[in-house]
Amino acid sequence: MSIRTVIRGGLVVTAADELHADVLIEDGRVVALAAHGSDAAAAWTADRTIDATDRYVLPGGVDAHTHMELPFGGTSASDTFETGTRAAAWGGTTTIVDFAVQSVGQALREGLDAWYAKADGNCSIDYAFHMILSDVNEHSLKEMDKLVQEGITSFKLFMAYPGVFYSDDGRILRAMQRSADNGGLIMMHAENGIAIDVLVEQALARGETDPRYHGEVRKALLEAEATHRAIQLARVAGAPLYVVHVSAEEAVAEIATARDKGLPVFGETCPQYLFLSTDNLAEPGFEGAKYVCSTPLRPKEHQAALWRGLRTNDLQVVSTDHCPFCFVGQKDLGRGDFSKIPNGLPGVENRMDLLHQAVVDGHISRRRWIEIACATPARMFGLYPKKGTIAPGADADVVIYDPHAVQTLSAETHHMNVDYSAYEGKTVTGQVETVLSRGEVVIDQRKYVGHAGHGTFVPRSTCQYLN
Ligand code: URP
Ligand code: ZN
Ligand code: ZN
Repeated sequence: MSIRTVIRGGLVVTAADELHADVLIEDGRVVALAAHGSDAAAAWTADRTIDATDRYVLPGGVDAHTHMELPFGGTSASDTFETGTRAAAWGGTTTIVDFAVQSVGQALREGLDAWYAKADGNCSIDYAFHMILSDVNEHSLKEMDKLVQEGITSFKLFMAYPGVFYSDDGRILRAMQRSADNGGLIMMHAENGIAIDVLVEQALARGETDPRYHGEVRKALLEAEATHRAIQLARVAGAPLYVVHVSAEEAVAEIATARDKGLPVFGETCPQYLFLSTDNLAEPGFEGAKYVCSTPLRPKEHQAALWRGLRTNDLQVVSTDHCPFCFVGQKDLGRGDFSKIPNGLPGVENRMDLLHQAVVDGHISRRRWIEIACATPARMFGLYPKKGTIAPGADADVVIYDPHAVQTLSAETHHMNVDYSAYEGKTVTGQVETVLSRGEVVIDQRKYVGHAGHGTFVPRSTCQYLN
C-alpha cells in the first residue's frame, strides 16, 4: 500500500535553493513541493505528517567514499554493511558508495560479486559501488567496460601501497585510456608510494616508530607530486580525473592549476583533514594511532587551503573515507612500528554534522554544505537527481535537521562499530532528528526504526558533473 507523507513547516535546503515549503511524498518519491501555508499545500492529505517547524529539510547525505568490511593492514574495517549503514543513517547519510576490491590475480567480477554478497540484505540505506583496480591487465581492462554497463562507473587506482593496491604509471595510463573510451571515472589515491616506502624504511631504521612518523614520511610534496603526475597522465589519456582524500595545500594547488586550464579534474577532501591535524597524530603514548590514515593528517596550516578550495570549487566533494579500525585489537597491531597501524578513520556518522558546524563557523554557506555533501557527490557519480536533492521525482531520502541542537561527539554515544571517536569531546551545533530513505522512516525523532535489508543496490550512470 502506498503511504502518503507530508513534511510541513520546515526550511527546505538544497544546493540550489532555500524554501519555506511543505514536501509531499508518495511511493517512496518526492511528488511535490509547495509554499508553506499555500492553498496547494493545505489541500494535501496524508497518512503521516511530519512537523518540521524550526527545522531544516535536507536531501539525505551521499557519502561517496566508504570502506565497510575492507580487508586491509592485516585485519578488516570494523563496520560491516549492517552496522556502517545504520550509523550512516544516524548521521543523516542515506546513500553510500563503497569500494569493491579487485585483489591482485583476481578478476573484477570476483571482487565485485564478493561486495554484492557482503552488502545484500544488510543495509539500512541505499548503496552503490566503485571498483578498486589492483591488477590492471588485458582481462580487467575489458571487464571495466562491462562494469560501466552494470552501473559500476568509477574505478579507484592507487599510486601508493606497493605490493597491495599499487599500480605503476603504465597501468594507470592504460586504465585511464580505457575509461576515456567507456565513460568510467578514474579516482586516484595520489601519493608516491614508492618514495614513501623508502622513507618508512629509513625512519624505522632510526628508531622512529611512533604514530606521528606516519605523518612525517608521507610528505605533502609526495602527495603533490603524485597529484601532478596523475593529472598529466589523465591529460595524455584524455580522461577526467577525481582525486580522492586530498589533504595537502600543495595538492590542492595542483588541482586548481589543472582546473584553471579547463581540465576535467576534480578533488575530494574529508572531514578529518578539515578538523584534525598532525597534533592529533602526535598525541601522547600510542593515542596517535587513532588518527593514522592515508593521505595523512597535515599540519593545521593546510586546513585554510582546503576550506578555500571548497569555497572556490577547486574541491567539489567532502566524503568520509570511512575505514574504521578499533584502537584495541586493530590499531595496536602497529605498536612499535607505525607502518603496521591499519590505515583509516571512522566518520560516516559525523560528516553531515561536522559540515554543518562549518556553516556555523562561517567556512561555507548552507547551500554549499548541501552541494558538497549531497548534490555534487550524486552528480559526480551518476546518481542525480534520484539522490542528492529534494525535487519532484527524486527518491524521498530526506533528513529533518535541528540546526540549534547542541551535541558532543563521542564513542559513548555514536553508532559506528568502533571503540573510539576521532572527534571525542567535540561539541557541534546541529543534529539529525528524523531520516527517511525512499519514504520509509529510518530514524524517527532520534530512534532507529529502520531495518537491515531496506537499503538496495543503486546502479549508477556515468559522471554527470562533466558538462
Ligand atoms: O587510510 C585510508 N584512507 N584507508 C582506506 C584506504 C584508502 O586509501 O582510501
Ligand atoms: Zn586511498
Ligand atoms: Zn578510501
